[in-house]
Amino acid sequence: MKAPPTILPLELRDISFEAGGKRLIKDISCSFEMGPRSVIIGPNGAGKSLFLRICHGMIGPAAGEVIWHGAGGADPSRLQAMVFQRPMMLRRSVSANVDYALAIRGVPRAERKWRVDEALAHTGLRRLAASPARVLSFGEQQKLALARAWALRPQVLFLDEPTANLDPAATYAVEQTIQEIHEAGTRVIMTTHDLGQARRLADEVLFLHRGRLKEKAAAETFFAGPKNDLAQGFLRGELLWWKKKPLTPPGGKPLAG
Ligand SMILES: Nc1ncnc2c1ncn2[C@@H]1O[C@H](COP(=O)(O)OP(=O)(O)OP(=O)(O)O)[C@@H](O)[C@H]1O
Ligand SMILES: [Mg+2]
Repeated sequence: MKAPPTILPLELRDISFEAGGKRLIKDISCSFEMGPRSVIIGPNGAGKSLFLRICHGMIGPAAGEVIWHGAGGADPSRLQAMVFQRPMMLRRSVSANVDYALAIRGVPRAERKWRVDEALAHTGLRRLAASPARVLSFGEQQKLALARAWALRPQVLFLDEPTANLDPAATYAVEQTIQEIHEAGTRVIMTTHDLGQARRLADEVLFLHRGRLKEKAAAETFFAGPKNDLAQGFLRGELLWWKKKPLTPPGGKPLAG
């Protein structure tokens, strides 16, 4: 079967997002070409998950445009997938969860069987294939979410903190799987709070802070020394939210400066 043409590049043009009266994503413009793995980093609450959801099309920006240049106006949703920070599982077995994801995309039953097996094998979940997905540990659920995405063979895969609940061995296994997904030709765009992981997996880094894209650079350049001062502080492990407003007890001196 001939592979459909790539939906990339993905371009975000001046996107903003608002909720609860706040601007949470502010005027971000950037594009993602075919090829490299992009890792989005930044402090908690920086807008990383929102940014990925906007790219994925799950939420629409309040302003700006999300353009899949290769899709030529067609719906790109079947050719890209996302693994969420808190994945949702169906009340079915592990293998049925993967099978369902394929079925709703119209994959024929005969093909589904081997694609489910392959995805479970790649994520180390074969022995749990018949277990109810809801009884899996957090880490196992995260692997199942990755298996579901892997089975879909998307052109572009968004991963939001794919190893947030995993132990070191499971983290290593998931990183290997992400690498395999990348080598199989899927464009990986992911977030992580783990700087070691960003160094291991990133070809390019995006640094977000308070809803703004502060820097986008080749990983080597970024880790050698980011241009942005907040990114420099973040790499040094400084708590960026302390920088602007030191805590001041009523009538007293600041607790930290
Ligand atoms: N629907 C919403 N309504 C109001 N505020 C929201 C909404 N969704 C997200 N936010 C806020 O937007 C900010 C960015 O959230 P987001 O989940 O994207 O951060 P993040 O960078 O992924 O953080 P973390 O590292 O903790 O995962 C947060 O301050 C969050 O409270
Ligand atoms: Mg997040």
